[in-house]
Amino acid sequence: MSVPADSTPFTAFVARPSTDAYVRSSEPSTQPRKDEIDPTFLDAMTVRHRVFIIEQKVPLECELDEDDPRSCHWVAHMSDGGDNTSAMSQQAVGCIRVVPYPQSPHPIPGAAYSIIDGVNELKGRWVRKAKIHANGETSKLPLPPPASTTPQSELEFVPASADDTLAQTNGAGADRATSLHDGKEPYIKLGRIAVLPTFRGFRLGQYLVQTTLDWIKTNPTYFDEHDLEAAAATAKTKFNGLVCVHAQLHALGFYTRLGFVVDEGMGTWWEEGIPHVGMFLRLDVNKTD
Ligand SMILES: CC(C)(COP(=O)(O)OP(=O)(O)OC[C@H]1O[C@@H](n2cnc3c(N)ncnc32)[C@H](O)[C@@H]1OP(=O)(O)O)[C@@H](O)C(=O)NCCC(=O)NCCS
Repeated sequence: MSVPADSTPFTAFVARPSTDAYVRSSEPSTQPRKDEIDPTFLDAMTVRHRVFIIEQKVPLECELDEDDPRSCHWVAHMSDGGDNTSAMSQQAVGCIRVVPYPQSPHPIPGAAYSIIDGVNELKGRWVRKAKIHANGETSKLPLPPPASTTPQSELEFVPASADDTLAQTNGAGADRATSLHDGKEPYIKLGRIAVLPTFRGFRLGQYLVQTTLDWIKTNPTYFDEHDLEAAAATAKTKFNGLVCVHAQLHALGFYTRLGFVVDEGMGTWWEEGIPHVGMFLRLDVNKTD
């Protein structure tokens, strides 16, 4: 497969698609009410299925979540080696979404999450194994370790307790402060970025992120104008260009190249068994360039 160096993908956009007709337990290609699903959103789900479900082994029913119907989605299409002039010859090869504020609270460092019925649920936490000393005493479990540097053999999984769940929800709208976020400022989140394996390494991922960042710079008040929940979130604190990603650990370099910085205070956590870190970027939304 080759992608011409000077080719620009055709990019489709859908804002806040309805997911009412989407059946979580069915693959995109066999959706029973396909005609009722926005075609761009279905394309995004097709790419996500190939990348997250097949390649990364995320369970099928965990892919669609509660953020999908309130997000904006982009899908990049490329010619599959054939005639590049006809939309009919193009295939969806990459996708990304922008989730508006308000966001759910920052993940708990060391926590393991799984999407149940579209909602991110805390399953438990990875902690360093307790040390048993010669005198029989046991050290208290220390704070969750930095996942990237701790071998799995030194970790222990502690199932979630009621206290953990309480700490996670922390009351409506409240969040903890991290290194790069004060816990209050509204921010948007880029997510579900995926490029089909044979189209990787051609800067399509970079193109998709840049497309969304350009869109945010041009439309900084979009969610305030179109989303009541988002408007309420910025009623007290203005959206000031803060962009977050929950990056899979292996993709950290990809986001670093785009200007994102790791938020050490967010720690490392697991989503569907995949380790993630938080990263932030500040866009200048007061001018367009
Ligand atoms: C991450 C992903 C979207 C990157 O897409 P891509 O089109 O191959 O990336 P690009 O070609 O735009 O790469 C842009 C730059 O990032 C670098 N890069 C790409 N993937 C990288 C990675 N995993 N780690 C470090 N650097 C990476 C490229 O080398 C390139 O650097 P350069 O500008 O110095 O040449 C793609 O690998 C993918 O779909 N992965 C599986 C899904 C996934 O993990 N998504 C991220 C969830 S957080």
